[in-house]
Amino acid sequence: MNDEKFLKGKVALITGAGSGFGREMAKCFASKGADLVINDINMEGLEETRDIILKDHKVEIFLAKADISNSEEVNNMAKKVSEKFDNVFLLVNNAGIDSGLYASLKSKEDSYDKVMAVNVKGAWNVTKAFFRQMKRQRQFEPIRGKIINIASCAGTENGINPFFGVYSASKATLIAFTKLWALELGPSDITVNAISPGVFLTPLYKNDPKVIRLLLEARGVKLPIDKIGEAKWVADIALFLASPTANYITGQNLILDGGMTISINKL
Ligand SMILES: NC(=O)c1ccc[n+]([C@@H]2O[C@H](COP(=O)([O-])OP(=O)(O)OC[C@H]3O[C@@H](n4cnc5c(N)ncnc54)[C@H](O)[C@@H]3O)[C@@H](O)[C@H]2O)c1
Repeated sequence: MNDEKFLKGKVALITGAGSGFGREMAKCFASKGADLVINDINMEGLEETRDIILKDHKVEIFLAKADISNSEEVNNMAKKVSEKFDNVFLLVNNAGIDSGLYASLKSKEDSYDKVMAVNVKGAWNVTKAFFRQMKRQRQFEPIRGKIINIASCAGTENGINPFFGVYSASKATLIAFTKLWALELGPSDITVNAISPGVFLTPLYKNDPKVIRLLLEARGVKLPIDKIGEAKWVADIALFLASPTANYITGQNLILDGGMTISINKL
């Protein structure tokens, strides 16, 4: 982490970078010298992210509008990216949607399909489209690439909750894929980890602390560290995982929740 520009000469691809955590991570990686591929379905959001970053950093930024749940769009994106960059080092599967606050068995089929398609299949589509390029990065010894999945504490053992329904299941599946991909890609010197945030102030929660407080109260949850998270804190953990300090960490799920999940079972 001490090397000011440890991502210089490397490309970071972040999905869902038109907003929230994705935008914050893009800013952080650019501050360490990374060129960026920023993906979203929302082009306006991507343009905003690009403009914010270019005010402060001289990096290359490629805007890749694509719906990650659609493999054809993802493969087209990968083709365009490979025409521009052959040095994708970091992939952050961040784009995700919630399923509304319905118990999983009360969810509608189209909501189930959509949440699973974005949160699980989307990450799988993008990883599948880019891991081969990562494997070829011999110039980046000892680690050729890093994948970070943004899961959620709603997908962890203590955090799984009917309140979050299908969303919980989608993030638990993403955590399972994190371990699976770490095993599959470890022999190619690619690390794969997840970050599981608790409750953070982003557009997902309408950037409104009151909405989050109501959610917590409804679940009877008191955060041991009684603060609502800021997107920058997730970006800082992603930066740590992207750094050489974390080269030997793989297959892990870092929970970043102010102690929420350890407190839930104590209620
Ligand atoms: N905010 C929180 O408290 C919190 C907590 C735990 C986990 N998370 C997870 O963090 C990730 C980012 O969440 P956020 O809070 O920044 O949300 P956000 O809504 O601000 O950002 C998500 C971005 O993903 C994009 N997106 C949605 N569907 C897409 C698709 N099919 N293809 C490409 N892009 C798509 C959206 O347009 C949006 O810009 C999500 O996976 C979310 O589940 C958030």
